[in-house]
Parts: sequence; structure tokens; C-alpha cells
Amino acid sequence: MNREEDIKERSDQESTLQYAYMEQAKEMIKQQVASLGRDLTFCVVTFGCQMNARDSEKLTGILEQIGYRKTDQEDADLVIYNTCTVRDNANTRVYGRLGKLKNYKQKNPHMLIALCGCMMQEPSAVERIKEKYRFVDMIFGTHNIFKFAELLVTKLQTEQNNGSDAHSMVIDIWKDTDLIVEDLPIERKYPFKSGVNIMFGCNNFCSYCIVPYVRGRERSRKPEDILAEIRRLADDGVKEIMLLGQNVNSYGKNLESPVTFAKLLQMIEEIEGIKRIRFMTSHPKDLSDELIEAMASSGKICHHLHLPLQSGSTDILSKMNRRYTKEQFIDLAARVRKAIPDIAITTDIIIGFPGETDQDVDDTIDVIQKVRFDGAFTFIYSKRTGTPAAAMEDQVPEDVVKRNFDRVLNVVQDVSREMAERFEGMTDTVLVEGINEQDQTLLTGRLGNNLLVHFPGDAKLIGQIVRVRLTECKGFYYLGTRCDS
Ligand code: 5AD
Ligand code: SF4
Repeated sequence: MNREEDIKERSDQESTLQYAYMEQAKEMIKQQVASLGRDLTFCVVTFGCQMNARDSEKLTGILEQIGYRKTDQEDADLVIYNTCTVRDNANTRVYGRLGKLKNYKQKNPHMLIALCGCMMQEPSAVERIKEKYRFVDMIFGTHNIFKFAELLVTKLQTEQNNGSDAHSMVIDIWKDTDLIVEDLPIERKYPFKSGVNIMFGCNNFCSYCIVPYVRGRERSRKPEDILAEIRRLADDGVKEIMLLGQNVNSYGKNLESPVTFAKLLQMIEEIEGIKRIRFMTSHPKDLSDELIEAMASSGKICHHLHLPLQSGSTDILSKMNRRYTKEQFIDLAARVRKAIPDIAITTDIIIGFPGETDQDVDDTIDVIQKVRFDGAFTFIYSKRTGTPAAAMEDQVPEDVVKRNFDRVLNVVQDVSREMAERFEGMTDTVLVEGINEQDQTLLTGRLGNNLLVHFPGDAKLIGQIVRVRLTECKGFYYLGTRCDS
């Protein structure tokens, strides 16, 4: 048996085992529901990125399967915080909100509190919870979400054996895994669009980033498993998919029969019913000409590329271990824009990396102006314990960071407004996602390039792709009118 077959066999065994635990959990929940005379509710709160959002859909799928009813209220019978730790403020938010949960729990003795996700992969965070937040019932990490039913059974059994007064904390955190457990229930949040994991983990070790430590080594799902999942989604009426990975451009490199990301896209394009394909995130160092060509020639791959710059200074990029220079990034973006003129390029930028000078920030601003990003997320550098950057000298003083952050933000906003304005008066297709919250007479949806559009229309159009004229640019969104009614 080769390595891939071995992983597949162990993953399949795990999947079978988890279905058995789901049955057991279902029985236990049924008994609780009968004795309480009411449904048991759950609420999953997601912090962080699209990976976490997808993981939360997996948890929700399992919870619905075992008989819990979903609610948005955080005083539910089971509350799960799916945490993020990419920046320190994500951790702070979790600690802050845990206090509120403690109050809810005092009022509802049946309430269970579970913490999972990236922050739980950090031993220091788990220690702090064990010490200061002892009312938490379950802690698990990023690698074993699939075994939630098993952990819940363990928790409920321990409670039964010890009596409900004796509190127990079930903790199960894996350092890494090679398992890719397929075919478990997953929530379908929207009937018309869905995320699809194509790979997990990251091997890049950018020096500021904690992701490789909390999400493990890069592993790609097999193309046939990805295609089967997307076919099922298409059969269910999904029109748009978002392929998810920390660095989709290195998809398939570790497979026994390597497949490039561009090839995977071409295979997905052939699936009937799928009208739009998005993906996130692309590392500039791995963005191939093959991918640019695939995007340019495809009628389904959306003309939006999220291409994190992080810094425009070659010196800082080198310290960040990004493995491209300022000039290489500018050249890459120019090639993308030449091949796909209407593409939107968005990015992530970090301000205040150790040693960053005003001159380095000028370089970042220079790249923003040359590349003309359609949008950018700007972040203040956050020191993450255990990463190489945390040990670097010359941490930048807070006031300097703040000043530079504002400088960059101003340029980003000016440029992205100008970029959005270039579409004024054009017509394009929108996937209608829902009703506008502020103005209920308007529908809201996204163009292929990811710009938001609000336009008058009937709620029956939700989930459909319609043609809209972009009448008025409002900065980061458009007002429009339907032109094919
Ligand atoms: N500090 C600030 N921003 C960070 N990011 C990752 N790590 C850090 C950090 N330590 C940002 C990067 C990445 C995005 C998801 O989060 O810009 O692309
Ligand atoms: Fe973090 Fe870099 Fe991996 Fe992105 S590519 S997840 S920034 S280490």
C-alpha cells in the first residue's frame, strides 16, 4: 500500500467511526430532549477567515445530524467558539466574550461551551483557559473538527458517570495530521454558493505568520474527491464555488500524481451547473503563467485575484520570507492585468513589521499606486509568539505604526475608489445573494470581480445570476438597475 492509499484507508475508517459516534450522540441528545421537554439548541460563532467559516459549516452539519437545532443566540444549550489567532486582537476578543458565556451558563445548567480552531492549537491559550475559564467544557483544535460527535459523547458520558455537579473539561488537540476525513455532513449555508476546501495547512512559514504552526503542513485533497463534492453541490443547485486553501497556487504538489491548480480549475470548469469559480488565497511566488492563462480563457473563473502583497519593500519582504521582490510583484500584477484587463486585484498589507522604516512604507505606497489594487485589507503587525519575527529586534513603536497605517490606508482607499469607478455605466452579471439589510427594496449581490451591487428587484431572484447596469459608484459598492427583466 502506498502512502496515499494508507492515508485514504485510515481516513475512511475514521469517517465510519464518526458516523457511529453521531448515532450514539443522537440517542443521547434524544434522551435529553425527552427529559427536558424541549429542543436543544446550538450556536457556532466563527472568528477569522474563510477556512474557519467552512470548518464551522462542518461542525453545524454534525450538530444538525445529531439532533441539535441551530440558533444565533449565544445563550444556546451548546455554544462553540471557532477561534482565530492570526493577530492578537482575535484572541482578546475570545477572552472578552467568554465572560458573557459564563453568565449564560449560570442561568442554564445544561449549557455546554466548546472552544476550537486556531487559537486552541497554541498551548499557552489552552493553559490560560484551563486556569481562568474552568467553566469551558470542551477544547479541540483545527485538525480534529471531524470528531466533534465523539468528543461530545465523551463529555456527556463523563458527566453521567461523575454526576452533573462534577465539571469536566474534555481536551483533545492534535499537533498535526495527515488525515483528510471526507463525506461527513456539512451545513449548506447558502443554497446557491459554497466554499470547498481543496487543501489544508501551509508550508510557507512567512516569518510573521502563525498559520503553519496552527494549521499544520500542506496537504491537498485528491482531485477526484474535490470534483465529486462539487458535482454534488452542483446537483443541489449551487452555482458559485469558492476553492479554499492557504496557498491554492501550490495545490497538488504533494499528491502522488501531482496536478497543478490550473489543471484542477479546468476539470472543475467542466462541471455542469457551476457558473462561477472563485479561489482564495494565492501566494505571489507560486502564481504561474498557466494559471493566468486559465483565468483569461475561462468563462467561469471569476476575474478576481486576491494576491497578498504584505509589504512593498524588498528588504522587508526578505525579512518576511515572502520570496519575491517589489519589482517582481509589480511585474506579476502587470502581467495579470494585461492578460485579464477587467480583473480586480485585491491584497493584504501589514504595517509595522519589525525594522520597517518610513522609506519601506513609501515603497509599499509606491506598489499600491503602481498596481492599483481594487481593494486591500491593511493590518497592523501583531507579534505572534513562536514565529521568527517575534524574536526580531527593532519592533516599531506604536505611534509610528499608527501614523504609517493611516498613510497607507488613505492611499488604499483613494486607489480602490478610483478603480471601482472605472466600471460605472457598464453592464455585468451579479449573483443575487439576498435582500439589502438597510434598504429592503434593494437586492444585493456580487459581480464576478467581487464588487458589491445593490439594485431594485424581486426576492425571487435570490440565488440567480442576473445582468445589471452599474449606475452609480458609491466607493466600495455600486447601485445598479436590472437590464434583462
Ligand atoms: N500580524 C498582522 N497581520 C498578519 N497576517 C498574518 N499574520 C499577521 C500578523 N502576525 C495577515 C496577512 C495575511 C492575512 C490573512 O493576515 O496579511 O495575508
Ligand atoms: Fe501565513 Fe504566509 Fe502561509 Fe499565508 S502563505 S498562511 S501568510 S505562512
